[in-house]
Amino acid sequence: MGREIDLLRSLPKTKRNIQKRSEGKDANVVAIAKQFGQMYWDGPREYGYGGYRYDGRWRAVARDIIAHFGLKAGMRVLDVGCGKGFLVKDLMLERTGLEVFGLDISLYALTHCEPEVVGRLHLGSAEQLPFPDRAFDCVLSINTIHNLPRPRALQALREIQRLSRGRAFVQVDSYHSEEQKALFEQWVLTAEFHDYPPGWIKLFEDAGYTGDYYWTVVE
Ligand SMILES: C[S@@+](CC[C@H](N)C(=O)[O-])C[C@H]1O[C@@H](n2cnc3c(N)ncnc32)[C@H](O)[C@@H]1O
Repeated sequence: MGREIDLLRSLPKTKRNIQKRSEGKDANVVAIAKQFGQMYWDGPREYGYGGYRYDGRWRAVARDIIAHFGLKAGMRVLDVGCGKGFLVKDLMLERTGLEVFGLDISLYALTHCEPEVVGRLHLGSAEQLPFPDRAFDCVLSINTIHNLPRPRALQALREIQRLSRGRAFVQVDSYHSEEQKALFEQWVLTAEFHDYPPGWIKLFEDAGYTGDYYWTVVE
């Protein structure tokens, strides 16, 4: 089994207006957000990111990931749920010669990606990764797997394990208390499966996933 490690510790904490999100949320907003289209990325905050632009904030995370996994020039890395490719770009900026690729279900994100990653991003779904076994030296998936219902999340973790043999990092929505769970439920738009850490760890075990992991907690 892998270990719990906060590889996103360098990311600035997001200011969330939980009350506004909760008041603006209805079945229609949730349905639109779950399309991961223009409204989710660059529409009003009630629908998702409220405008997601590259500002270099993932560079420090990229440095921590490179150090944690000992990534070197020539190694291949896959980011599952890469969105517009910010982390893909920053990993390559931080380690010249690292071969980084991404995969995402959002055609909008991939067609609005950073110029440096054009040709490196694949359209697809996490539970069916179109690559051979052991194709990557490291597989990352940040805030993505919880967007699948549990059986598909299980399959996605199996796929990450198949490609990476456990040299991997997955971060997912979670909570440590009833209070945090209540806040999360007010905030959440797209997650299909979420749980306390032991519930996630059970899913990792069921999938045979042996990589590292951490939690996104709404506070
Ligand atoms: C919260 S965003 C995270 C994006 C990026 N990893 C980050 O941390 O900034 C969730 C991402 O999951 C992607 N996604 C949702 N369902 C997916 C699926 N079944 N397969 C692959 N990506 C998916 C969305 O398009 C979006 O890019």
